[in-house]
Amino acid sequence: MTTPFVPAWVKAVRFGVLAAVPLPAGLEPVPEGVLATLHPKERALALSERGRRQIEVAGGRVAWRAAAASLGVEVSSWALLSDSARAPLCPPGVMVSLTHKEDLALALVAPSDAGLVGIDLEGGARDRSAIMTRVCRPEELVEVQALPEAERWPNVMLRFAVKEAIYKALAPRLGRFFGFQAARVDVRSRESVAIELFLEPTDPRFEPEAELLWLDEHRVVAMVRAR
Ligand SMILES: CC(C)(COP(=O)(O)OP(=O)(O)OC[C@H]1O[C@@H](n2cnc3c(N)ncnc32)[C@H](O)[C@@H]1OP(=O)(O)O)[C@@H](O)C(=O)NCCC(=O)NCCS
Repeated sequence: MTTPFVPAWVKAVRFGVLAAVPLPAGLEPVPEGVLATLHPKERALALSERGRRQIEVAGGRVAWRAAAASLGVEVSSWALLSDSARAPLCPPGVMVSLTHKEDLALALVAPSDAGLVGIDLEGGARDRSAIMTRVCRPEELVEVQALPEAERWPNVMLRFAVKEAIYKALAPRLGRFFGFQAARVDVRSRESVAIELFLEPTDPRFEPEAELLWLDEHRVVAMVRAR
């Protein structure tokens, strides 16, 4: 049994602490009792949005507060707002990354001296193979197309989740957009991937690693840390 906006679980993961907050269906405004648990500026941020965006913004902030508390970070005076590129403005010493889908918001909170972190939740039974050529580098496409048809979309979805998590980890540091061709994801198994980056020669060098958490048969949380 899950209650909307009440953390369903908070767990230690390789790179920090991960919290999951169920989101309600529909477009009803977020209850005041939930908004009142946020920092006043987070409450104002949520109230500046409508419908699903309001629900996502509030759910993500409930999740970050639960994960930060579990990590032992004092966050009562910090509002998790966003910069002009939508990246979270994190408190000193802490990295926060958020993701949300229809029924769930997740926050990964980690000590920033351990590296940059990013998270993405992808999944659902629906096959979206049409995005394959956009998400994959040419050499990844060759690997995907060699798979039996039923395995292609799950494989692309995994690459997609890892790449979006890479983006959330690195984009705030790089200060620019970079597309899906900037990383190659080597899918070793459902549980293990390796990452190779193809950034600009002038960019800092990063060593990225990933942790995967399957929520069910179809939904995966990709967490990336880059040092
Ligand atoms: C930015 C992007 C990754 C967000 O993904 P999404 O599926 O729209 O959204 P999610 O629900 O997973 O995550 C939303 C959260 O992402 C975070 N986010 C958004 N932009 C961000 C950025 N530039 N940097 C870091 N985090 C960001 C925010 O915290 C946001 O939560 P909020 O809106 O409640 O504050 C996506 O829109 C995008 O632009 N992808 C293309 C770039 C890319 O992935 N390149 C691949 C590089 S290998």
